[in-house]
Amino acid sequence: MARVFYENVYKRWKETVAVKDFTLEIADKEFLVLVGPSGSGKSTALRLLAGLDSISDGKIYIGDRVINDVAPKDRDIAMVFQTYALYPHMSVHDNVGFGLRLRKMPKDQIHEKVVQAAQVLGIEPLLDRKPGQLSGGQRQRVALARAIVREPKVFLLDEPLSNLDAKLRVQTRAEISKLHQRLGTTFIYVTHDQVEAMTMATQIAVMNFGVIQQVGTPQFLYDHPTNIFVAGFIGSPAMNFFEVTVTGDSDQVCLVDDNGLSLPVPAKKRRALEKYRDKKIVFGIRPEDIHDPNFVPPETEVAPFDAVVEVTELMGNEVFLHLLRGETKFLARVDPRTVAKQGTKMELMVGMDNMHAFDFESEQTIFTPEEEEPEIPKDLKRSPATGVAEGAWVTSRGSASTERAEPAPEEEGKVDLDRLVEEEPVEEQVARRQSEVPQGQADED
Ligand SMILES: Nc1ncnc2c1ncn2[C@@H]1O[C@H](COP(=O)(O)OP(=O)(O)OP(=O)(O)O)[C@@H](O)[C@H]1O
Ligand SMILES: [Mg+2]
Repeated sequence: MARVFYENVYKRWKETVAVKDFTLEIADKEFLVLVGPSGSGKSTALRLLAGLDSISDGKIYIGDRVINDVAPKDRDIAMVFQTYALYPHMSVHDNVGFGLRLRKMPKDQIHEKVVQAAQVLGIEPLLDRKPGQLSGGQRQRVALARAIVREPKVFLLDEPLSNLDAKLRVQTRAEISKLHQRLGTTFIYVTHDQVEAMTMATQIAVMNFGVIQQVGTPQFLYDHPTNIFVAGFIGSPAMNFFEVTVTGDSDQVCLVDDNGLSLPVPAKKRRALEKYRDKKIVFGIRPEDIHDPNFVPPETEVAPFDAVVEVTELMGNEVFLHLLRGETKFLARVDPRTVAKQGTKMELMVGMDNMHAFDFESEQTIFTPEEEEPEIPKDLKRSPATGVAEGAWVTSRGSASTERAEPAPEEEGKVDLDRLVEEEPVEEQVARRQSEVPQGQADED
């Protein structure tokens, strides 16, 4: 069984805390996507699991075994990087079989496994070519095949698609999802692209400043983001935010601002806002919940407000309206039949049933999932992977103003050693690193 469990894991490099109190359970066969902005600690979390970096504090389990002191090659893990890490002088066949050769597997067995993996990924006709004779997408599939033949318990993929063009990315994304279904193995996939996270994951963990912000199914995170960071990160185009004040009494609660905004709050959401009366909160609304008044979906509780249309963008099946109210810019996705005109003021309708609200200071959500949506399908109520009730937000946002993981400044002309290292297959990296430095001291200095 390949359940992976990070227990209060830290990774420190001097004053930088790349991963902080990281606790995450990934169930067997899960496709977990770790998503977050650049420098948020995603790759570090993977490298700790693979054994490419040492753990500063905490434990990592694969199955029931603590792997902190297990040699990387004995961890039953295969890792695929953004850079394909193929040997240019070897054929595709030999590249795919390379890890097995290191393990001294007999030649005929290697051949059998290479052909099987090549069939799974549709690269059988390419086995005699060299990597230089392949397209980017084909190379990426060779890298995946090399990971598959090792039959690992856990697949780690670190931004494997970011070198591909948009069309190939979409294709390869689907291939990786199929591969996951076919192999029935645990996948942990790192990306900063929330679209990849939404489309591929069975579970998403959102990271910021080395801290997990929230874990849940893609739909749950979309519907019930725990804080402003997750709300703004998951969903494209992103959620709109407005600073408003809560007014009224328990029979009628309104969100108002200095520019004449006055939005009545639906009955089921009033109670949670009671303690915020006469206080500032952050009101959040997704672009698809702002409608052209002539095309409001049926049974939607809406409230009107005005805005100036700065730009209209026709997307075919919808129109993006870039809007302005006072100083606040925001975006609406409306019906393509809209008659909205650039440079004019128009009335819009906000679907208040889908409103979000966040505490102004802590930036945490004010509503429980039940208040946001009274009828949540059962399977979304509890995360199968973590066992954590998804309404129970995992942690607060990085309160780590002093321990913030700043991205390392890129020095001009300096060779990026880590990038070079990543171009080596993982077995070689591990072997070389182990011969260079004693485990545990590799990256503390
Ligand atoms: N070897 C290292 N020495 C010192 N600091 C490091 C090292 N590797 C990573 N860091 C720092 O740790 C933090 C997390 O880095 P990490 O590579 O995990 O981020 P990431 O989320 O994968 O980002 P990206 O999306 O850019 O790949 C960053 O601030 C980074 O500068
Ligand atoms: Mg990274």
